[in-house]
Amino acid sequence: FSPIGDDGMIGILLILNGLKVTLIVTFFAMLLGAVLGVGTTLMKMSSKWYIRFPAELYVGVIRGTPVVVQLVILYFIVLAAFDVDKVTAAIIAFGLNSGAYISEIIRAGIQAVDKGQTEAARSLGLSQAMTMKLIILPQAIKNILPALGNEFIVLLKETAVIGFIGGVDLMRAGEIIRSRTFEDSIPLFTCALIYLFLTYSFTFMLSKFEKRLKQSD
Ligand code: ARG
Repeated sequence: FSPIGDDGMIGILLILNGLKVTLIVTFFAMLLGAVLGVGTTLMKMSSKWYIRFPAELYVGVIRGTPVVVQLVILYFIVLAAFDVDKVTAAIIAFGLNSGAYISEIIRAGIQAVDKGQTEAARSLGLSQAMTMKLIILPQAIKNILPALGNEFIVLLKETAVIGFIGGVDLMRAGEIIRSRTFEDSIPLFTCALIYLFLTYSFTFMLSKFEKRLKQSD
């Protein structure tokens, strides 16, 4: 295994494939997380305790245990009986994880809207639901969207534990190259730089977007 010629080519392909897995898992986990997050938030707003309870339990358990533990339990125990591939298992695990955090992001975003907004809307005769839809949510979305961007970055970095179930993401690809070449620096710094490039460009786009959101304030 040398960094040039055919071996080098294999290394590059491994990294590119790993990068693909990292991006796919992050993207679809984020989608799943958004759906679960909205659903969980709605459940938490219910007036019935038996609807609120499962949602609160879900958020509590997910936030109270490491994502890597959730990943291995899901893959080796919960999904063991099913023929689920590692990428799908990772999407489910990270999606479940993110859903709990996203529901907290939505809750925090709604709570950050001043109480006076609700009081004013209600005293003008708007119903609870109308107040939420017309007054609170349009303002809350400005808190929620940037935080969702942060969640995406967290998720992207967090997927580096996919190797625990034998999936080959960017990090694992670097590790494979490191262990086969006995060359530590090149593969590991390459991985780090790719992660850095991804998070940095995303943060950059996010800050532009946030500035645009602020313009209408
Ligand atoms: N490293 C933390 C854990 O293992 C964070 C989990 C992921 N965080 C998130 N916002 N999705 O529990």
